[in-house]
Amino acid sequence: MAEMERVEDSATSIVPEIDDPIAEIKNLDLSYGETQALFDIGLQVPEHQVTAFIGPSGCGKSTLLRCMNRLNDLIDTVRINGSVHIEGDDIYGPGYDVISLRRRVGMVFQKSNPFPKSIYENVVYGLRIAGEKTAYYDAVFQVLILAQSQEWQPVLAFDK
Ligand SMILES: Nc1ncnc2c1ncn2[C@@H]1O[C@H](COP(=O)(O)OP(=O)(O)OP(=O)(O)O)[C@@H](O)[C@H]1O
Ligand SMILES: [Mg+2]
Repeated sequence: MAEMERVEDSATSIVPEIDDPIAEIKNLDLSYGETQALFDIGLQVPEHQVTAFIGPSGCGKSTLLRCMNRLNDLIDTVRINGSVHIEGDDIYGPGYDVISLRRRVGMVFQKSNPFPKSIYENVVYGLRIAGEKTAYYDAVFQVLILAQSQEWQPVLAFDK
């Protein structure tokens, strides 16, 4: 506990408050049953920047990320205290629309977990449930195929 307070003090002293964070976490505790995994997390994520969580295996990076689109709700033993705001909305607030949250906050997992459907159907799944016109599906699929081919590598590198 003393160590955590020391780290927290030094973090708050060097990280300035962000005026309009895209995501803001305050006093977040999370337990899996009797075992607490997150302790009093505070975090502001700036818009239009890449933010990385870095730490040893098991320190809670994935657990924290899952809190940001409420994927931990699917684990029965999980208990959460504190607040998470995304674009100003309290995503753990009463009556909050979790489906709309998950449309806005996507996750790419360490291991891919495709649906038991064709590759094409997995690629266009997001477009389909978002109600996009089927006329776009082929174009999006083709772009992804092309993006994997050699001739597009320089373009991808340039975009980075
Ligand atoms: N579904 C779960 N049920 C119980 N405990 C869990 C569950 N998922 C994670 N934990 C525990 O919570 C702690 C944080 O795990 P988490 O997976 O968030 O760490 P991580 O930083 O993402 O690790 P890694 O770098 O290995 O991906 C670990 O002690 C882990 O064993
Ligand atoms: Mg992880």
